[in-house]
Amino acid sequence: MKNTILSFQMVALAAVACLASFTIAQVADDKDASIAGIPVNYTEARVGTYTLPDPLKMSDGKPVTDAKTWLAKRRPEIVRLFEENQYGRTPERPADMSFDVFDRGTPSFDGKAIRKQITIYFSKDKSGPKADLLLYLPASAIGKVPVLLNAGFSANNLAVSDPGIKTGWIFDAKKKERAPAVPGKFNFGGLDVLPAIEKGFGIANINYADIDPDAATGLPFGVRSLYLKPGQTAPAPDEWGSISAWAWGLSSVLDYFETDAGVDAKRIALIGVSRLGKTVLWTAAHDTRFALVIASCSGEGGAALSRRNYGETIKHLVEPTRFPYQFCANYAKYADHVDQFPVDSHMLLALIAPRPVLLQTGDTDRWSDPKGEFLAAVAATPVFKLLGKDGMDTDQMPPAGTPILHTLGYFMHSGGHGMIPSDWQQVYKFMEMHLR
Ligand code: GCU
Repeated sequence: MKNTILSFQMVALAAVACLASFTIAQVADDKDASIAGIPVNYTEARVGTYTLPDPLKMSDGKPVTDAKTWLAKRRPEIVRLFEENQYGRTPERPADMSFDVFDRGTPSFDGKAIRKQITIYFSKDKSGPKADLLLYLPASAIGKVPVLLNAGFSANNLAVSDPGIKTGWIFDAKKKERAPAVPGKFNFGGLDVLPAIEKGFGIANINYADIDPDAATGLPFGVRSLYLKPGQTAPAPDEWGSISAWAWGLSSVLDYFETDAGVDAKRIALIGVSRLGKTVLWTAAHDTRFALVIASCSGEGGAALSRRNYGETIKHLVEPTRFPYQFCANYAKYADHVDQFPVDSHMLLALIAPRPVLLQTGDTDRWSDPKGEFLAAVAATPVFKLLGKDGMDTDQMPPAGTPILHTLGYFMHSGGHGMIPSDWQQVYKFMEMHLR
C-alpha cells in the first residue's frame, strides 16, 4: 500500500511536469541539450566561476558578526530582497479570513486516526477563493502533537484514500475552468497517513491549486485576484507570483493550527516537492512560525544556486511559455544577468536558520542540480553557525544514500526527480530529531 501510494506520487510529478508542457529534449550529446530553445549545461567543467553574495554582510558593506544583528537587521534586509526580486510581496493576513471546521473529528484508518476537514475562507465572500485542509491526528494523542503539513499537488480526496473526504477540484488550464477532482484525469499526488500517525505525528494536506491555480491563466481563480486594484490586470512587478501566493495560503493553515486544541502550532513541519519544494522554503523563510521544513528536489528558484550554470537557470524559469507567473515580474531581469541578482539560494536557506531544514535531492535529477543545492547548504552554514547550530560540516558532497542530518540536512537518493519510499525514513528521522 505504502509503496503504491508513494510511487504514485512520483508518477504524479511526471504528470505535473507534462501538464506544465515541460519536456526535456532527448539529446545524444549533452552539449546540445536545450529547453524552450535555451541551452542547458550539464557539463561540470563548463559551470564557470561565480561569486556569491555574502549573507553576513549588510547591503552597506558592514559585516554581521552577532546573532542579534543578523535577526534585527540583516535577516529583514534579505527577506525584502527576495520579496522584491524573486517571489514578490504578499498582503497582510486578511482580517475577514475565517475557518469552517466542517468535519470535527471522524475516526478513520481503523480508529487509529481522527480526521478533521476545514475550509479556509480567505475573504468574506464564501464563493471566492477558499481552500480545504485535511488533517489527521493520532487517536491516542494526549494533548497537542506536531504536524507534518504537505503542500500538495492534489485535491484532498485524491491525495488520501479514505471515504468521506470532500471532493476538491482541479483547474483545467486550457479551458480556464474548474472541474471536480474525480479519480482518473489529473489524479496525482499521494500521502501516506499511517506512518506519521504511528510515530505520534499529525499529518495534513492542502491542495496548492485551491490557493492559486498553477497556470498563467489561473490568476482570476486564485487569491491574488482578491487583491488586484481597480484597473490592475496583473500584480505589480514586485508583487506576488504563485509561489508567494501558495506560501501565503500555507501561512493561513498555520493561523488555523493556532486555533486547534489538538495541534502544537509551534511544532509544524512543512514538506513540498519540486515547485512546492521552492514554495515550502520561501514559506518558512518568510513565516518564522514554521518549525521545520523539508524541500524535495526544489532546484532552480528553490535551493539550487542560481549563479551555478548547471541544469535549469532563471532564464529557463521565466521563459514566457514556462513558469514566469510563479515568480514576481522583477525576477525576469536576472535571466541574462544572474551576477546582478542581489541574493542567491544559500541566503534563502540562511533565512530559515536556526530552524531545521532538510534538502532531499536525487542523483539523476540533473535538471534540479543536486550539487547546486549542496553548495547552497555549504554557503548557508556560516549563518547557522552564527546562530549556534550545525550546518554542513564538509564541502565534499556526500554520495547518494548518505544523509547529513544536522540542523541543516542534505540527503540525495539514488534516482530521479521527486520522492521515493525510502526518503520518508529520512523525513521522519529528521522530524524525530528536531520536533520530539
Ligand atoms: C519543471 C520546472 C522546475 C519545477 C518542476 C516541478 O521541471 O522546470 O523548476 O521544479 O517543473 O515543479 O515539477
